[in-house]
Amino acid sequence: MHKILVTGGLGFIGSHTVVELQNEGYEVVIIDNLSNSSKDVLKGITKITGKTPLFVELDLKDKHLVQDFFKTHQDIKGVIHFAASKAVGESVGNPLLYYENNINTLVYVLQELNKLDTANFIFSSSCTVYGQADELPITENAPVKPAESPYGNTKQIGEEIIKDSCKVSQNLKAIALRYFNPIGAHESAHIGELPIGVPLNLVPFITQTAVGLREQLSVFGDDYPTTDGTCVRDYIHVVDLAKAHVIALKRLLDQKNESNFEVFNLGTGTGSSVLEAIKSFEKVSGEQLNYKIAPRREGDVVAAFADTEKANTVLGWKSELTLDDAMRSAWKWEKKIRNK
Ligand code: UD1
Repeated sequence: MHKILVTGGLGFIGSHTVVELQNEGYEVVIIDNLSNSSKDVLKGITKITGKTPLFVELDLKDKHLVQDFFKTHQDIKGVIHFAASKAVGESVGNPLLYYENNINTLVYVLQELNKLDTANFIFSSSCTVYGQADELPITENAPVKPAESPYGNTKQIGEEIIKDSCKVSQNLKAIALRYFNPIGAHESAHIGELPIGVPLNLVPFITQTAVGLREQLSVFGDDYPTTDGTCVRDYIHVVDLAKAHVIALKRLLDQKNESNFEVFNLGTGTGSSVLEAIKSFEKVSGEQLNYKIAPRREGDVVAAFADTEKANTVLGWKSELTLDDAMRSAWKWEKKIRNK
């Protein structure tokens, strides 16, 4: 079976994707620098799939190490590139760190892929490229808005770099997957999200509050022009998202792609408000969440949810799990890692 490189394969979305790849019979090699992950994730992957992927601890910022890696693994048939930093606030404070981590590394990997006979590349992008879209749901044709943060900019520039490379390359084919809001965990609770420090994203903050690690959740703003005044997002179960990566990769391997660079939105197509997300959590967990309404958070868009038509019909992928499923799995995972 094909050998696939997953960069950032010990991270949240990466680890779930490794599981789905192995479940489909692919041979997986993981590169991770452990900057925001742990080797223990390998144990979780092994428990679920019965197979331990090859793990290479490597920092993709080191161009020579990237070159050496590809020299040793010339039989790689596809790359799913997750490795990147993703904290919006941190990127504002330290833009060069973000450009180095997210752009240099991408360039080094692409340079090596250019040396292969065929190279299939899946890029981890984000709905952040749309900013506040003028029309909802958001289609892939919605204009890319000036990025609100260096992090967002790295996703836009990253897509441009790949697109330009695909234009002139004889061998490189790529798909950029624009994720909406990935949440949840594997149903086995062997892998899940492991934010370091105080979580910035909603769902880990909810589960950490319910488990007693955080005092209270702040709901950032209830005076937005939405049904209940709180922001609306498209929360997508990480396992559905992981499966989409395998489908996208197969599309390239089977040469089913319509052009050498394609873009797909990955979401459920349904928008949920912050209060609806909290209600879903309370329903499936049986816990009452301590939360308060707080001021708006700077940089938040009012509402974002995906038009899933292209992903459904062209890619042939559809999300199957619900917000309740995602909350249930996130809660199971949180309790497990806190020994509750
Ligand atoms: C955020 C990033 C986005 C990035 C994604 C990666 C911002 C502005 N956007 O998306 O660029 O791709 O993470 O995971 O940072 N909320 C609360 N209280 C909290 C935390 C969040 O009310 O403690 C609300 C937010 O206002 C938002 C929703 O929950 O309405 C989701 O927030 P979050 O999980 O941080 O995701 P995004 O902001 O959509």
